[in-house]
Amino acid sequence: WGDEGHYATCKIAQGYLTEEALAAVKRLLPESAGGDLAAVCSWPDDVRRTPNYRWSAGLHFVNPPDFQCNYNYSRDCHDSAGNKDRCVSAAIYNYTLQLSTAYRNDSSVLESKYNLTEALLFLSHFIGDIHQPLHVGFVGDKGGNSIVVYWYQNKTNLHRVWDDMIIYSALNTFYDSDLTTMIQSIQRNITDGWLNEVSSWRTCPNNYIACPDPYASESISLACKYAYKNATPGSTLGDDYFLTRLPIVEKRLAQGGIRLAATLNRIFTHPSKIA
Ligand code: ADE
Ligand code: ZN
Ligand code: ZN
Repeated sequence: WGDEGHYATCKIAQGYLTEEALAAVKRLLPESAGGDLAAVCSWPDDVRRTPNYRWSAGLHFVNPPDFQCNYNYSRDCHDSAGNKDRCVSAAIYNYTLQLSTAYRNDSSVLESKYNLTEALLFLSHFIGDIHQPLHVGFVGDKGGNSIVVYWYQNKTNLHRVWDDMIIYSALNTFYDSDLTTMIQSIQRNITDGWLNEVSSWRTCPNNYIACPDPYASESISLACKYAYKNATPGSTLGDDYFLTRLPIVEKRLAQGGIRLAATLNRIFTHPSKIA
């Protein structure tokens, strides 16, 4: 996602944190966040092109082979040089482990060998990204980045349509150009429209603390069914594409937020509190 998508995911998540998780998050947030996780959720995108963080650039996505509409960790989670366990799913496991290990050995939150503030920001950002269908897009087109399309009159690429353009058009068309209004609308859907599904979004198989692999599977499936569909190179995407894909984008932002909160709640629940 672009800045707005990450802001929305983290804003939604913060509203579903337990008291204990919210306190832990606030302790880890940098001063500049002013207690608001959403304010720093795009930080990994700000640093991915800087020399000190170039290693993180490949951790924002994972690419299944061309035209495989399914995801397989051991097949797909590698960087372009073939190094295993370098993808968004591995990054989510890694930062979850850093945070949960430090929190379990409680006071060591302050003396972990890892930078737990960075771990929190990377984890929050990557749980957002793995819900963007084209962050689990095909390798041959770099998740839609190399598919040139027109968004109404404007030349862009399919990846950017899903990161940004659908959200920008929704803001302009339906939400008075106000991201807070759009987020409130998604929050209302969580509490009424999707109410029956939301508890299933929260659960991880096998009592795992984090479970990115099912989210990646959903994403490539949605990429095939909605993102790549009728978006061939050079095509113009307009009202029909916008209006049929916007509900998918809004649901993925909601799922990202609910699942980020559920993951942080599991990470920051002291073992003594689990019945
Ligand atoms: N962003 C940059 N490269 C990407 C890729 N190969 N797949 C998805 N998102 C990306
Ligand atoms: Zn992206
Ligand atoms: Zn990203």
